[in-house]
Amino acid sequence: DAVRDGEPPLIKGWIPYIGKALEFGKDAHKFLEEYKKKHGDIFTVLIAGKYMTFIMNPLMYPNIIKRGKQLDFHEFSNQVAPRTFGYPPVFSSKFPGMPDQIKRSFHLLQGDNLTPLSKSMMGNLLLVFKQDHLDKRQMEDSGEGGWRTDSMCEFCSKVMFEATFLTLYGKPASKRRHSSMETLREDFIEFDKKFPLLIARIPIWLLGRTKAIREKLINYFLPQRVSCWSNTSQFITRRVELFEQYNSLRDMDKAGTHHFAILWASVGNTIPATFWAMYHLVSHPEALEAVRQEIHSLLKLWGMDDFSDRDINLSREQLDQLLYLESAVNESLRHSSSSMNIRVAQEDFSLPLEAEQSVAVRKGDIITLYPRSMHMDPEIYDQPEMYRYDRFVQDGRQKTDFYKDGQRLKYYCMPFGSGATMCPGRYFAINEIKQFLFLLLLHFDLQLVEGQPKVTLDTSRAGLGILLPAKDVRFRYRLRHLDRL
Ligand code: HEM
Repeated sequence: DAVRDGEPPLIKGWIPYIGKALEFGKDAHKFLEEYKKKHGDIFTVLIAGKYMTFIMNPLMYPNIIKRGKQLDFHEFSNQVAPRTFGYPPVFSSKFPGMPDQIKRSFHLLQGDNLTPLSKSMMGNLLLVFKQDHLDKRQMEDSGEGGWRTDSMCEFCSKVMFEATFLTLYGKPASKRRHSSMETLREDFIEFDKKFPLLIARIPIWLLGRTKAIREKLINYFLPQRVSCWSNTSQFITRRVELFEQYNSLRDMDKAGTHHFAILWASVGNTIPATFWAMYHLVSHPEALEAVRQEIHSLLKLWGMDDFSDRDINLSREQLDQLLYLESAVNESLRHSSSSMNIRVAQEDFSLPLEAEQSVAVRKGDIITLYPRSMHMDPEIYDQPEMYRYDRFVQDGRQKTDFYKDGQRLKYYCMPFGSGATMCPGRYFAINEIKQFLFLLLLHFDLQLVEGQPKVTLDTSRAGLGILLPAKDVRFRYRLRHLDRL
């Protein structure tokens, strides 16, 4: 189609339909930065048959984010998520009221409800750490002065997958841990590898074992299994009740698929985010020491510095006071996040942007924000490639003022999306990563194994969340002396 009056420049590829998809898929960030240089803050790209208009200036973000009616999110997610996870769309006359009920269940991840959730997560992290990593004899048996070596992403994945699972879904009837956790995790990783392809509409039957693995994962959550678990979070309990109301949902759809999608949402991004937070700290020893120092001083302040066992627990309020730790987590999210915010235009209209500027959009156009380009903007973040653990602290408080063109930005760090569809698990996610790092820094000396190249981002899932490392990295850890800090 020819560009009409008021519409942004249109970039088409030389292969009709596929457009620029291939280039985009290779390195979205580089691709968009190049077009920004050429075409300015707003341009449309034909990607895999869709007209996607990118808004590259973060000062314009508020105008997009507040326009929930004309620019709808659900139209997109209601198609993509069911196809990827294999359940019927929830926005359907077959399930009256379901989307609203689902939306309401999200408050069980936030506010006061975060307190029991965080408490349970801390208990589960301690359980996994104690049984697998904090056993003194086991550590000393490993030789080499008590040092043990492991792959970092694998380590984060094992601990966070299991602890998050136990916190949300609960434990088996007569044991503290699920015996099949490792198989579940391996299947999950196998599925997750194919996730970008499923999102890109590659039919599942073309993806080898993926369909069988998805079925196996779904079967794990069939109602008769889930109902045997105890200590289940209120959030999951509420969802079980909610799906019970809809007779037209099959068992497979009901507990199975919806739970499986939540499992993906809850660990798919958290695991790489935990990895980056740990990697950045371990590869910047001065940052690691500063954050450890904060932990020690606060423990002293709270009179919690004398302990002979390793059963130390933090309340949610105490966790909130670990400012530098939180800044370190946010700094890693800034570095590794690549999620896109996608909205679909519900009608032809003129979208007002900054100052007098506006842009014409057509019904069905996809308006896209790509916050990674904001996270990496040197005007907003000085030397954006550098890791600075204290970037989000100022004068003993969380720093929230960041500027572009001399104007304060309303949105400056957006790993969790925006507006009405912002990630409902964001507070829980930040808390659990902080809890993980708290335990890690308190109990272990940590080092990278020398002679390894710097870990880079695997850009193959650009647009879909937190990027994975291109290659895992080896590290060493050993129990710290803890009788008294
Ligand atoms: C949605 C990021 C952890 C539950 C999202 C979205 C993003 C995101 C970008 C889409 C928002 C949008 O398009 O506007 C992340 C990151 C995480 C994380 C970076 C970890 C670092 C979690 C956790 C949970 C969770 C731990 C649950 C316990 C959800 C759910 C949705 C969602 C249920 C769908 C919301 C809806 O349908 O409206 N997340 N998330 N997330 N996330 Fe997270």
